[in-house]
Amino acid sequence: MKLRTKDILGLEYLSSEEISFILDTARSMKKISTHSTKKVPALRGKTIINLFYESSTRTRTSFELAGKRLGVDVINFNFSTSSTSKGETLKDTVVNLQAMDPDILVLRHSAPGTAKLIAETVAASVINAGDGAHEHPTQALLDLLTIKESRGTIKGQHVAIIGDIAHSRVARSDIWGLTKMGAKVRVAGPPTMIPPCIEKMGVKVFYSVDKAIQDVDVIMCLRIQLERQNKYLLPSLREYARFFGINRISLSRAKENVMIMHPGPINRGVEIASEVADSKSSFILGQVANGVAVRMALFYLLAGEGEENVTH
Ligand code: CP
Repeated sequence: MKLRTKDILGLEYLSSEEISFILDTARSMKKISTHSTKKVPALRGKTIINLFYESSTRTRTSFELAGKRLGVDVINFNFSTSSTSKGETLKDTVVNLQAMDPDILVLRHSAPGTAKLIAETVAASVINAGDGAHEHPTQALLDLLTIKESRGTIKGQHVAIIGDIAHSRVARSDIWGLTKMGAKVRVAGPPTMIPPCIEKMGVKVFYSVDKAIQDVDVIMCLRIQLERQNKYLLPSLREYARFFGINRISLSRAKENVMIMHPGPINRGVEIASEVADSKSSFILGQVANGVAVRMALFYLLAGEGEENVTH
């Protein structure tokens, strides 16, 4: 099997078969990271450029590591020291970078739709590393991999996504991915952070966390995206933590073996208490580790030429 698409722009555009194929490839990529030398030459001679117009710790680092583990030449474009500061547009920037013939551009930008626009402009593959509040497909893929590894299957799992659904690209990608893979998804948060018509994506809406987390297999906590809110949507962070934060008391009302997940960065004491983030129920660092494997899989599937097993 091969991916039908040149680009990874969102989970909205991938079929369940393609998602399964990426997850299976990511599982075999994980073996490379367990070798004493965590590197294979599978993509030697290929070039990727990381273009991050927004801050990142996990996504940018794991894209870089993923490339290096497959022998790729990775260039990290620093927009603050680039000619963007002299007024060059994003489109002109990528057209100039394309002239240097990279194989893949990884793009994070605050404007929804930017990755699609760039994918239509350049010959290189484009991977969306987050476009505003639209999608963050590689985050959702690593979330799906984490659930599949822990539970054996995604189908039939009950997942509660809690927090700022309206401004979260992770929520949107997770909803697309989870529902395509057969999970039952519910969302919960303050009414000001639940987008209108979200039910059309196949999710149930709750305004009470206690009710939303009852009998679920996974609780996905989200950060409040203050950088994307143009008006104040909360009385205070303290009140948010009280009514929507996941803490030891809320955890005691959930299933005993519930998985606690969070895409990061976490705001301790707001959407998640430290006693939960650092507990045995937490899969947060497992998600981060799976981010490298998922990004290796995408590089391999988009830029690799053969079907041979790369893990030996
Ligand atoms: N989850 C995530 O996208 O984290 P970063 O913003 O640190 O990349």
